[in-house]
Amino acid sequence: MPQTEGYDSQLDRAAELIRSGQLVALPTETVYGLGADALDPEAVASIYQAKGRPSDNPLIIHVPNDRSWLDRYCRQVPELAYELAEAFWPGPLTMILKRDPIVPDRTTGGLDTVGIRCPDHPVTLEIIRRADRPIAAPSANTSGRPSCTRAAEVLEDVGGRIAAVVDGGDCRVGVESTIIDLTGPTPCLLRPGGMPLELLEALCGPIQRDPATLRQMSGSEQPRAPGMKYRHYAPKAPVTVVTGAAEKTADYIARQGGPTTGVICFEEFAGHFPTSQVAVLGPLHDMTQQARNVFSVLRSFDERQVDQIYAQCPESTGLGLAVANRLKKAAGFHVIELEGER
Ligand code: TXA
Ligand code: MG
Repeated sequence: MPQTEGYDSQLDRAAELIRSGQLVALPTETVYGLGADALDPEAVASIYQAKGRPSDNPLIIHVPNDRSWLDRYCRQVPELAYELAEAFWPGPLTMILKRDPIVPDRTTGGLDTVGIRCPDHPVTLEIIRRADRPIAAPSANTSGRPSCTRAAEVLEDVGGRIAAVVDGGDCRVGVESTIIDLTGPTPCLLRPGGMPLELLEALCGPIQRDPATLRQMSGSEQPRAPGMKYRHYAPKAPVTVVTGAAEKTADYIARQGGPTTGVICFEEFAGHFPTSQVAVLGPLHDMTQQARNVFSVLRSFDERQVDQIYAQCPESTGLGLAVANRLKKAAGFHVIELEGER
């Protein structure tokens, strides 16, 4: 964005709205966030209201890339957290740490831990700096819908219920941050996301995976990230994910249904199906592109007349792990494995 006076006063206005307890949707590199002052319980309560979000689902707080902010809001910070911040912030990595009591219960859903990250977006970093507050921000979608990667989608979902949207263009990463819990004896992955697990493991060693990252939780199970238990990202029509070699999954999907079947596929296979209701994730081997598109592809089916949706699925490596996870969550983990994971 150009450094004009108009731009500068927009940042001041957004920071002022945050300081006065209002809701402002903000761009990040992952997805748009619905921001409020993380230290103001009433402002935070209005986030839950605007999204229709269950109150036991805690929020991530967004801070500048500065060790002193980690120390202000977290307690018993392990050395590994500073090392991860040094290596990967600003960026799509959220760390779960013991919270300092200054962070209100409303923000952490009553947990004694807090999710904290430094977003890699100059506009939002500047707004945090000017507001001089940590900003609590869930993804800016209505609860249960796919996350928003464009300002127009934020307006569609929560436009009437917030003070402002700061338009920072389309989100560069497209899936939410990777969440790592650092409060246990070994690091644990709570949500795969925009920071590939392999990069984190190169620094931390092996990272455990919370079962909620792999399968649907049953009613009695409690995932460590409360948000992972909710049905998510789901279009209105039921979704089935098909895993296996791309040619095989394309053939399988082509044999299912007909003109009212929706298909999510790789670019190479777009002409392969007996339906015009096809949405392209991106080229087969371009997971960066797939991550950027996955939520708008899922959203696109709410405007299409389809009674079921089949999806091809990338390999679970690099960003593919997050893309596959979002598709499988949209499918309620209804997955057909043609030959197991490739
Ligand atoms: O990329 C992102 O992380 C985006 C942008 C806006 O920063 N934010 C985001 O927030 O995805 P949200 O609220 O949609 O998802 C946060 C997830 C939820 O599943 C929540 O349960 C989990 O993080 N979470 C937050 N604080 C936690 C905590 N203290 N312990 C465990 N899980 C936590
Ligand atoms: Mg969300």
